[in-house]
Amino acid sequence: MDLTYRPRRLRRSHALRSMVRENSLSPADFIYPLFVHEANDVQQIGAMPGSYRWPLEALIKEVERAWSLGIRCVVLFPKVDESLKTEDGAECFNEKGLIPRAIELLKKELPEMTIMTDVALDPYSIDGHDGIVSPEGIVLNDETIEFLCRQAIVQAQAGADLIGPSDMMDGRVGAIREALDDEGFEQVGIISYTAKYASAYYGPFREALDSAPRSISEKPIPKDKSTYQMDSANAREAIIEAQLDEQEGADILMVKPGLAYLDIIHRLREESELPIAAYNVSGEYSMVKAAAEKGWIDEKSVVLETLLSFKRAGSDLILTYHACDAAEWLKQE
Ligand code: PBG
Repeated sequence: MDLTYRPRRLRRSHALRSMVRENSLSPADFIYPLFVHEANDVQQIGAMPGSYRWPLEALIKEVERAWSLGIRCVVLFPKVDESLKTEDGAECFNEKGLIPRAIELLKKELPEMTIMTDVALDPYSIDGHDGIVSPEGIVLNDETIEFLCRQAIVQAQAGADLIGPSDMMDGRVGAIREALDDEGFEQVGIISYTAKYASAYYGPFREALDSAPRSISEKPIPKDKSTYQMDSANAREAIIEAQLDEQEGADILMVKPGLAYLDIIHRLREESELPIAAYNVSGEYSMVKAAAEKGWIDEKSVVLETLLSFKRAGSDLILTYHACDAAEWLKQE
C-alpha cells in the first residue's frame, strides 16, 4: 500500500514507544487513603482486600512504607466508636479525637509527609450523613458548615497540611478558608471534593467506616446523599461547582469517583488552571480486586492502565487505595 502516514512506525519498539509517550505515572502523583481505628489490631476490610483499619502504632509503619516508596501524601479516615456518634457529630472537632491524635503522631514521626484530612460529619453522625439532619429529615446546610469549620481548625491545629471538605454543603470552602485564616492557618491548603457525585461506588468505604446512612429512631433519615452530592447525569453542574470552589479559595479541585467520571476530570482540566485530583474510590478498587482474585484480569496491568487514564484525562493527583502496590510496580518497570 502507498501510505504516507503509518502511525505504527512509532510503536515498533519499547524504546520508541517510551520516547513518544504523552503521560506517565509517578508515586508522587498518588495520595494514599488510610483508615484508622481505636482498636489495637490491624483489621482487614471485608470488601477491600489489601486495605485495613490501622491502629495508630501500625499506621506509622504503613505511612513510613508509603514514604519509602515515594508516596508524599496520605489522607486519613476514622472508624469512630458507636458510643461517640451523635446527631450533630460533635466528636468531629474533639481535639483529642482519633484523627487529631493520628495527625500529631504522624507529624512527629514523619514531619515531611503531607497529611490530608477529610472534612464531613458522616463518620461521627449517628444518622450516617455528611451534615446535620433536621427533625424533618433535611440535611441542614448552614448549621453543618459551622461544625465543618471547627473540624477543619482542629485538624489544622494537629498539623494537617491539606484540608479536604467532602461534604458537598454549599459555601463550605469559603467558610473553611475564612475560619482557617482567622486562626492563623493561612498556610494550610484546601483540596476540595469539588465534583462529588452521589455514587454507589462508595459502598465498600461505608463498610470500612460503618458510616452508611441509617435510621435508628423515629426521625426520617434520607436513604442516600442525593440532596447534597451531585447527580451522576450532570456535567455542566461540575463546572459551576468548580467555579464556586475557585472563587471561595480552593487550592486543588477533586473529581469523585474517578473512572466513571473521566469526562468530568477532562472538563475541569480545561476550565481551571488549578491542580486537579481524581479519587479512584473504594468500589473501583474492590471491583479490580475481586476480578483479580478470580484470575479474570491481570491486577498489575489493569491498575496501572486505570491510574494512567486519570492522568490522560487531565488529573495531576490520584487518590487511590492501590497507591503502594502501584508505586512498587512502577519501581520494577
Ligand atoms: C465521606 C466520604 C466518602 C468517601 C470519602 N469521604 C463517602 C461518602 O460520601 O459517602 C468515599 C471514598 C471511597 O469510596 O473510597 N464524606
